[in-house]
Amino acid sequence: MALVNADDARRRARRRLPRMLFDYIDGGAFAETTLRANRRDFDDVPLRQTVLTGIHTPDLSAQYLGQQYALPFMLGPVGFLGLYTSQGEQKAARAAHAAGIPLCLSTFSIASLGDVRTATNGPLQFQLYVMKDRGLTAELIAAAKAAKADALVVTVDCAVTSVRERDLINGFRISKRLTPGMLLNFATKPRWLTDQILRGGRSVRALADRPEFGSSILEQAVNLSQGIDPSLNWNDIGWIRTQWDGTLVIKGILAPDDAVRAKAAGADAVVVSNHGGRQLDGASSTIRALPAIREAVGNEFCLMLDGGVRRGSDIAKAIAGGADGVMLGRAYAFALAAAGERGITDILDAIRTELRITLALMGVPSIAALRRDGGRGGQQIIGR
Ligand SMILES: Cc1cc2nc3c(=O)[nH]c(=O)nc-3n(C[C@H](O)[C@H](O)[C@H](O)COP(=O)(O)O)c2cc1C
Repeated sequence: MALVNADDARRRARRRLPRMLFDYIDGGAFAETTLRANRRDFDDVPLRQTVLTGIHTPDLSAQYLGQQYALPFMLGPVGFLGLYTSQGEQKAARAAHAAGIPLCLSTFSIASLGDVRTATNGPLQFQLYVMKDRGLTAELIAAAKAAKADALVVTVDCAVTSVRERDLINGFRISKRLTPGMLLNFATKPRWLTDQILRGGRSVRALADRPEFGSSILEQAVNLSQGIDPSLNWNDIGWIRTQWDGTLVIKGILAPDDAVRAKAAGADAVVVSNHGGRQLDGASSTIRALPAIREAVGNEFCLMLDGGVRRGSDIAKAIAGGADGVMLGRAYAFALAAAGERGITDILDAIRTELRITLALMGVPSIAALRRDGGRGGQQIIGR
């Protein structure tokens, strides 16, 4: 049966994935306060119902990150998709392509950009973690150019890796070797295990020529997160701009001043993000932070948002609050784990349907109208 919604995907992913991977996707930093706030604050935003408008098939296309797409939401960067199901990155890229939206491939991917490019010629972006090893960083940027990535998305909220206590308990990204506990846990998930043994990748392909990162995925995962440059600062953004002349996006902005600074540093867009509650625990939810950021950067600058987006109505709230587009994270990662490429297609269909119905019942003819004036002549369509 098709996945009904993101909660359904999460439930079914939990049955399929080893605990270590389910917790890695599901969890947040420390007390998971921000993780919960992302959801709670979406739930608290009311939408205005407007009747007798005759609007029944609103135009859901949207312009963001320099291009026009079929939908105002896309697949954001999520690490290790290929561990949730074999060829996870390729499956995600194909599902995104079929829906007319981009996938942003994480630095922490099993498949390389080249592998994904071979699987689809659809819209593809690359998410960059700036590594201490600037040679490797420059190589990653060059690979993004070679794969004709539509945008380089530099994640800046992860320079210092936070603690996800569920990962501590499970040993993921801590232990460089399989532990007896992990093996026992894998054995309880035979479908996942068989798929990984028969078809799964054995290592991070982008590190094939980098033996210093180790050879197994567990080893590479630890070394990659330790390899992120903790001294990252605004001057480095200038350096990246010299390496990349395409669309440059800074991901992980939560304060209006930082958004203004990103714009001044040459970014074409920012992603309002708290990394899905996985970094600074206690930080504001993204939907709450958004309006002040829009105000600070002006109306023309491209703003994306992620964090807690599970439903079409969340997307309507984000766009009415000033976002040009939205990135999905866990919603599609769980769908991929639950049912592969078809799972992502199910979730994209479900969210598209909900968004269409939401706009129709709000009496809003298009995403462009919702973005322009909150849907109705400049009046606030959301509020608290
Ligand atoms: C399992 C997992 C892995 C992630 N890996 C990355 C990553 O490699 N790079 C990155 O910029 N963000 C990463 N993120 C953060 C997402 O891009 C996004 O900010 C977050 O998932 C949004 O919150 P949501 O999952 O509640 O929608 C990851 C998130 C999750 C859940």
